[in-house]
Amino acid sequence: MSLARAGADDAEVVVVRPYVVGDAPGTREVFTAAVRRTAAERYSPEQLRAWAPDDVEPEAWAARRSDATTVVACLGDVAGELVGFAGLVDDGGGTGVLDMLYVHPDAGRHGVGRVLVEHVVGTCRDRRLQRLDVRASHLLRPLLERLGFVVDDEARDAERGGVVLTRWAMHRDLAPRPVEPAALPGALAPPA
Ligand SMILES: CC(C)(COP(=O)(O)OP(=O)(O)OC[C@H]1O[C@@H](n2cnc3c(N)ncnc32)[C@H](O)[C@@H]1OP(=O)(O)O)[C@@H](O)C(=O)NCCC(=O)NCCS
Repeated sequence: MSLARAGADDAEVVVVRPYVVGDAPGTREVFTAAVRRTAAERYSPEQLRAWAPDDVEPEAWAARRSDATTVVACLGDVAGELVGFAGLVDDGGGTGVLDMLYVHPDAGRHGVGRVLVEHVVGTCRDRRLQRLDVRASHLLRPLLERLGFVVDDEARDAERGGVVLTRWAMHRDLAPRPVEPAALPGALAPPA
């Protein structure tokens, strides 16, 4: 994966594009590697097996990706190697949920996660959503805090077989920022 050798402007070599059906195997591979390798730093083997079981039906995986607004991060251009993906679900009441965010460990810590989160935030703003919710892993929490999310609570989610995973319920407010009077057409310039 060439990103690991890229320089300071890593994020510039990452292209975000909409998910297509043919991305199902690639996203599944990224998910499994991200959980089994990266998340292994903070979660037990039992938790990792419950989080990313081996026996998920490919059709069920593909359906979940297609049901969400899924975007993928590729190296170089839209046809480049798939190194990460994110999913956005709209709750219908003005809130978006960052449903999934996974980056392949070989491309980790080069800004791919940040680029994907910023893309999802942009999509939420385009849709006039007020807020973006997420249940963040221990690995994701510091990145989200840097991007303006706040922690609401500790979340203990029961996964497959009742195995509990600790995550963090976090959100970012996306209400439109008030327009500065000086930016409005015809506004008077402040006195010199
Ligand atoms: C969380 C994740 C999406 C971040 O992707 P990324 O491309 O590495 O993120 P960025 O490069 O934009 O940001 C890096 C930051 O993420 C966190 N992070 C990423 N990998 C990490 C690791 N192996 N150990 C600890 N923190 C890590 C750190 O805060 C890091 O900042 P730092 O390098 O200054 O310490 C990725 O690590 C991942 O897929 N993790 C496993 C699955 C997971 O937890 N997904 C979230 C589901 S809720």
